Amino acid sequence: MWQAQVFTLYPEFYPGPLSKGLYGKALAKNLWNLKVINIRDAAEDKHKTVDDTPYGGGSGMLIKADVLAKSLDKNKVKGEKIIYLSPKGKKFDQYYARELSKQKSVSLVCGHFEGVDERILSTRNIEEVSIGDYVLSGGETASFVIIDSVLRLLPGVLGNEYSKKEESFENGLLEYPQYTKPQIWEEKAVPEVLLSGDHNKIKHWRLSQSEAITRVRRPDLWQKYKKN
Ligand code: ADE
Repeated sequence: MWQAQVFTLYPEFYPGPLSKGLYGKALAKNLWNLKVINIRDAAEDKHKTVDDTPYGGGSGMLIKADVLAKSLDKNKVKGEKIIYLSPKGKKFDQYYARELSKQKSVSLVCGHFEGVDERILSTRNIEEVSIGDYVLSGGETASFVIIDSVLRLLPGVLGNEYSKKEESFENGLLEYPQYTKPQIWEEKAVPEVLLSGDHNKIKHWRLSQSEAITRVRRPDLWQKYKKN
């Protein structure tokens, strides 16, 4: 069983979309598990304070290292990877998702306010991870992205109708275009080659489409692909 532990100030967000459809069924079958930990439960004063102002001034509040440490130390699974979601982290991608899918348990710390006291990251061996170059109001939505991308890689979670081999990123390219019935729709016909029944020809056509799309839309991926 693969487990995600989320540390959050908004436990009511979970499990949300992750409890629906195939992921919900997989959850019921114990193929994965979600543990939601309210960081505030670790606050010790009567106001349950989790944040404070930054040294050196500046706007906003930071999650306190001592509160977060207490929450993590109480709940973390021995040897597991701990991730702090932040726009200044290492960029998350399909390779990272695959690595996480091989772990038994992963902890995801969702920041809020202006961030966390930096000292928590080094003392608890936490990796800072970003899901993209934009700023979210908190790590919760990013945690959904990460968990979603990992769950679909776990054996038995998706049905056979999903092919993971030929989708975007699995071969370093974006996916080729796909078509279904009707053969002509709003005067647009399905590419002839797909009706030919010639599997070799179809395979070549799909690869050339993948390459063309990747070259135009993602020069970064294209450069990497050409080198390999
Ligand atoms: N929190 C705020 N912005 C984020 C981002 N881009 N990725 C991950 N966590 C975040």
